[in-house]
Amino acid sequence: MEFTEVIKGRRSIRKYADKPVTKEDIEKIIELTRFAPTWKNSQTARFHVILNQELKNRIAEEGTCSFSKNKLNIQSASGLIILTTVDGIAGYEKDGTFTTSKGTHWQSFDAGIACQTFCLTAYDRGISTLIMGIYDEAKIRNILNLPENESISALIAVGYAEEAPNAPQRKEVSEIMEII
Ligand SMILES: Cc1cc2nc3c(=O)[nH]c(=O)nc-3n(C[C@H](O)[C@H](O)[C@H](O)COP(=O)(O)O)c2cc1C
Repeated sequence: MEFTEVIKGRRSIRKYADKPVTKEDIEKIIELTRFAPTWKNSQTARFHVILNQELKNRIAEEGTCSFSKNKLNIQSASGLIILTTVDGIAGYEKDGTFTTSKGTHWQSFDAGIACQTFCLTAYDRGISTLIMGIYDEAKIRNILNLPENESISALIAVGYAEEAPNAPQRKEVSEIMEII
């Protein structure tokens, strides 16, 4: 797919076809995603992949706070990625102090780059995604027994789109850019 089409054509998809995404599909997406830049090349993003429908639907039921839309989004999806990042590395010196005044900010920054790289790669291969920031971290951690040194950065629904929403309006360049 042409680069501009990948950037402009990717949409958040909330209705998915009843067609499975496979372990091999996800592996191929992550194979490219791992080239995303990271703080001092620390590569702290981890992808916990749920393709088991029973487990995915349990996360939908129990791990979405009271935000019922995400419950439906996850139920509709073929799979769900729990994107985590290893704590205490991005933004830190080896002695455990922060490198910058922005503290832990860089951990989320790296997670965001990894997340978008994953979503764009998936879209390029015909697989749609939805990034979700509303979830119950403690419940999901408990259900999946996630490593204690990882924090959940986002949930990503994956699947084959069964809707083609219009792009939500973007700000004009003049609104977000200034020449100083
Ligand atoms: C950090 C982040 C968190 C988001 N959380 C949710 C969410 O919990 N539920 C949801 O339906 N969409 C969520 N979205 C999707 C946004 O609503 C969507 O990206 C935005 O409206 C632009 O639409 P587009 O992705 O189709 O361009 C999230 C997006 C981002 C980047």
